[in-house]
Amino acid sequence: MSSFWSTVVNIVIFLNIIGGYLLIRWVAKPNKGESKAGETTGHIWDDNLAELNNPMPMWWLYLFYISIIFALVYVVLYPGFSQYEGLLKWTSVGQYEEEVAKSEEKYGPLFSQFSDTPIEELSKNEDANKVGQRLFVTYCAQCHGSDAGGTRGYPNLTDNEWIWGGEASDIEHTILNGRDAAMPAWGSVLKPNQVEYVADYLFSLSGRPHKATDANRGKKLYDSYCVTCHMSDATGNKALGAPNLVDDVWLYGASRNKITESISKGRLGKMPPHKNFLGEDKVHVLAAYVYSLSNK
Ligand code: HEC
Ligand code: HEC
Repeated sequence: MSSFWSTVVNIVIFLNIIGGYLLIRWVAKPNKGESKAGETTGHIWDDNLAELNNPMPMWWLYLFYISIIFALVYVVLYPGFSQYEGLLKWTSVGQYEEEVAKSEEKYGPLFSQFSDTPIEELSKNEDANKVGQRLFVTYCAQCHGSDAGGTRGYPNLTDNEWIWGGEASDIEHTILNGRDAAMPAWGSVLKPNQVEYVADYLFSLSGRPHKATDANRGKKLYDSYCVTCHMSDATGNKALGAPNLVDDVWLYGASRNKITESISKGRLGKMPPHKNFLGEDKVHVLAAYVYSLSNK
């Protein structure tokens, strides 16, 4: 914040506190010197409903004074004035970091005890898998489902179809560093009927009903536009996250509509990185848990 705005904010805070004090003094004072019990303000409703002008009860008045003193003490101790740090040097980041450090100290060993065990071996360790499952439900289930079964756009992690590779090291790499898939939108290159031809070609590869003549036309288009990523036999390229198109497993839905939509509009699946957020020890346990799901 610039020092100009910081000064403006400070003046507003200060005037607010002073204003609050003056307001209380003003309303607490009985009208014209002394107030007589039962005197009215002159406001009358419904013929006989009169507003009395009694002074405020003392306890109530003191509550206001106490809240003003509270505000002053607060502003001195905590960073209440815009750029002033406050005597306690409290920050929300500091409080968060302190809590994280405390829990790391307490729960860190729970995860680090597994960090030297290779993932393949760890995946057979029941205790580790219990910890892994809890982590999964907390950090991964919102996207992959609590049973890791996935849903449209979020891959199933319990089968043996891997977009980015199912070796232990691939899985750990995926969780640590995240993955960005980039399927270009072909709608501006291919005409709608050409998109249908390619879809027919893909259906012919995965053994689904298709029109043979259209599939032949689609193969030519596939060979010119798609092989670079999905490979000439359409089994995909794990380094690019270009999925296998012959196994009839479809991340974005198996219907013809969904598949032509993938082709014409493109897809940008994003698996977020968890290295900084969870740390390597937790990711190691998670990778072993995920590995265990498809390697029973
Ligand atoms: C915000 C949603 C989101 C969260 C949270 C998330 N993922 Fe993912 N994950 C994805 C998406 C989307 C993909 C697929 C990316 C793509 O299109 O290739 C993916 C892919 C993966 C893959 C690769 C699957 C394959 O077939 O190669 C693994 C493994 C994985 N996630 C594990 C995890 C684990 C473990 C966690 C919890 C730490 C997690 N994910 C949290 C969205 C998420
Ligand atoms: C630049 C590399 C690249 C090229 C070229 C490419 N794709 Fe893809 N394709 C991908 C990636 C990466 C994904 C995964 C997207 C995701 O997970 O979000 C994908 C996903 C798809 C899907 C969705 C698969 C599913 O499981 O739902 C289909 C269908 C598809 N591509 C067809 C094609 C066709 C047909 C062509 C040629 C016209 C083509 N792709 C060209 C990279 C490519």
